[in-house]
Amino acid sequence: MRLLVTGGAGFIGSNFVHLTVRERPDVQVTVLDALTYAGDKTSLAPVADKVTLVEGDITDAELVDRLVGESDLVVHFAAESHNDNSLTNPWPFVHTNLIGTYTLLEAVRKHGVRFHHISTDEVYGDLELDDPAKFTADTPYNPSSPYSSTKAGSDLLVRAWARSFGIQATISNCSNNYGPYQHIEKFIPRQITNLIDGIKPRLYGKGENVRDWIHVEDHNSAVWTIIEKGQIGETYLIGADGEKNNLEVVEALLEAFGLAKDDFDHVKDRAGHDLRYAIDSSKLRDELGWEPKYTDFQSGLQATVDWYKANEAWWRPAKEATEAKYAAAGH
Ligand SMILES: NC(=O)c1ccc[n+]([C@@H]2O[C@H](COP(=O)([O-])OP(=O)(O)OC[C@H]3O[C@@H](n4cnc5c(N)ncnc54)[C@H](O)[C@@H]3O)[C@@H](O)[C@H]2O)c1
Repeated sequence: MRLLVTGGAGFIGSNFVHLTVRERPDVQVTVLDALTYAGDKTSLAPVADKVTLVEGDITDAELVDRLVGESDLVVHFAAESHNDNSLTNPWPFVHTNLIGTYTLLEAVRKHGVRFHHISTDEVYGDLELDDPAKFTADTPYNPSSPYSSTKAGSDLLVRAWARSFGIQATISNCSNNYGPYQHIEKFIPRQITNLIDGIKPRLYGKGENVRDWIHVEDHNSAVWTIIEKGQIGETYLIGADGEKNNLEVVEALLEAFGLAKDDFDHVKDRAGHDLRYAIDSSKLRDELGWEPKYTDFQSGLQATVDWYKANEAWWRPAKEATEAKYAAAGH
């Protein structure tokens, strides 16, 4: 099978490529990645001899048409993915998440190639902290930021192309991921790399906001399950019942470093910060038989901390620039 992975030099995409090379040696992998600030060739270094990396943009219709035409399956991870950045400059989000997805869909439609679209639970907006509900594939879309609204738009494009043109597509909406190779601008790796540098964790507001954490390996095993067993045209929610508020995450991080639970600083909450996300993944579990492996958050987090400690050469070059960007934005 010839597989095209967009965004395969990013966090989840590179882990997906690693998993594929490890467990599916018959799959021939090509990565299409623009290597933006979030993409890193070195994330693919351990599998470099088994993967073809094409540096290019998913809005480049000619390139996309050629690569899709040479593939049997496209798994689409490429995106602008950081909420905070979308509040300062929304344009790259519109460009990549909407126009990029459109460009891929047109190529997939032309060549009749199977397509799996990676999306987020943030398209559903947020739940009240005391609301017992969880998101399902039937929850109405209610995105809050330029990031989540462009992801919502990309999902709707995929649905429309499936309905109107009969493309062979599935969609997954996953909760917050953690694990190796995540850019240090994101909450967990930023705190981990700060702790390695002896800087206290920082918490938005009171830390009451709840995220449903899933290890990236579990996300990616679910994606393969959907590719192999999912119904064409369907949307599957991926989650591992990992609801934790931000205070609990910070406490778990401090524990992973052997520090006191209250050894952190507060920062002001950001505009439109969603309260709670929670995923009901029963459709994926009951209909397709998927189960997560990393069900203990503390041990998954400890493994992630250990990875960042052992791979400083991977994250250190981006640290100073990332912190300068946050400092300029007042975070
Ligand atoms: N990180 C999460 O917790 C999470 C949760 C659910 C869903 N998702 C979704 O998973 C996907 C991957 O997220 P991530 O966290 O790995 O993101 P990431 O920012 O780490 O990686 C994105 C990758 O896409 C590439 N890219 C960006 N614009 C491109 C373009 N125009 N053309 C080609 N490549 C381009 C970047 O270079 C980078 O390698 C996204 O679609 C995101 O919405 C992420």
